[in-house]
Amino acid sequence: MTTPDTMFKRIVDDASRPDPYPLYAELRRTPVARQEDGTFLVSTYHEIVALLHDPRLSSDPHNREDAPPDLSAEAGLAPAFIRMDPPDHDRLRAQTMRLFGPPHNPARVYGMRDELTRISTGLIDGFADRYDGGERIDIVDEFAYPFPVTVICALMGVPRDDEHLFKEWADALIQTLDPRLDPGLQRQAMTEMGQYMAALIGRHRQDPGDDMLSGMTAEGLLPPETLVTTAIMLFIAGHETTVNLITNGMLTLLRRPEVLDRLRREPELMPGAVEELLRYEPPVHMLSPRGALADIEVAGVTIPKGASVVLVLASGNRDPKRFRDPDVFDPAREDNQHFGFGSGVHSCFGAPLARLETQIALTGLIRRLRDPRLVADPPPYRSNPRLRGPEHLFIEHG
Ligand code: HEM
Repeated sequence: MTTPDTMFKRIVDDASRPDPYPLYAELRRTPVARQEDGTFLVSTYHEIVALLHDPRLSSDPHNREDAPPDLSAEAGLAPAFIRMDPPDHDRLRAQTMRLFGPPHNPARVYGMRDELTRISTGLIDGFADRYDGGERIDIVDEFAYPFPVTVICALMGVPRDDEHLFKEWADALIQTLDPRLDPGLQRQAMTEMGQYMAALIGRHRQDPGDDMLSGMTAEGLLPPETLVTTAIMLFIAGHETTVNLITNGMLTLLRRPEVLDRLRREPELMPGAVEELLRYEPPVHMLSPRGALADIEVAGVTIPKGASVVLVLASGNRDPKRFRDPDVFDPAREDNQHFGFGSGVHSCFGAPLARLETQIALTGLIRRLRDPRLVADPPPYRSNPRLRGPEHLFIEHG
């Protein structure tokens, strides 16, 4: 029997991966649920948003009594701002943002629109004839996985010839971001990426381009060790998440042919559909644990200082106290303030790029693929319960 304090065990069980949403509904009956190991799970919208904006909840793992080994430090890297608290977090984030978006670089992401379309079209052209000829195609391997790697390499100014290295590191990371697996491979991938980035930064310093890494290097905004960490963080934070949003998006549309047809006819509806995907099938189901800096009272429960707190974003996204008909996928939903990109000071830095990539990807895929049919439903899922998404998504001509 499941009690509120054993819910986490059931949620992380591989058998729950295809459809964890009924478990989240059960979990929401206890908005703040202490687990057997002392971690607190928070599953309701209003409690999650309150905690995401509460400065007493820290993103720095050192503030948790059960702090995990620090892989970045072991790989010789400075801490990344995703794991820091204000004011240090805010300073580093603002300095990095100077190169990524408004007000200093408003054209950085939208200026990549043509390039993103070209990359997406190139990948689709690579398998479309085989698809037309009756071959089954894996949307993950052939499209969703390589697309964000190529994009982030273009953004950062990684030469095309070196892109394969990032694909290899992405492979190591995608297998090891699961908190239950051996972190050795991840540590090695991070060390190698760190060495590569340090060398690339040196080259960009000598011979700058108009990419983001050259800008960060030239402006001298960040100390060199922080530059390396930031470059790696952008890659890690933006890869598996984007793979999953594109794949979850195709899966959701393939399950709803009438919505797919409508988006094909009215592509201007795609931005709203992507927002709804971020609510309905978000890539980030739970944030990495945060640490309570003081005793915090939420929904009648006291979370003690030092405790680990896991915010179950995907459950908040389905909370009927916040969203009407939360289990319905409605691409025209209004008032859609979802947690797909988190909220508060750590809300996703790469959101404008992730949105644009996914809009372009899904528009291109549904336009080109005639009568697509899912080969297996549900598809096989990767085991990671936090960053949830299919491992493969096979489709064929229906
Ligand atoms: C669909 C794709 C994406 C999703 C669903 C997503 C989701 C998220 C979420 C939920 C957070 C909050 C983490 C927290 O509060 O602890 C976050 C933070 C972050 N994301 Fe994304 N992300 C995506 C794509 C990207 C991309 C493409 C980049 C880089 C270009 C990126 C860079 C970051 C960074 C640097 C942070 C940390 C922000 C901070 O600590 O201030 N993300 N993302």
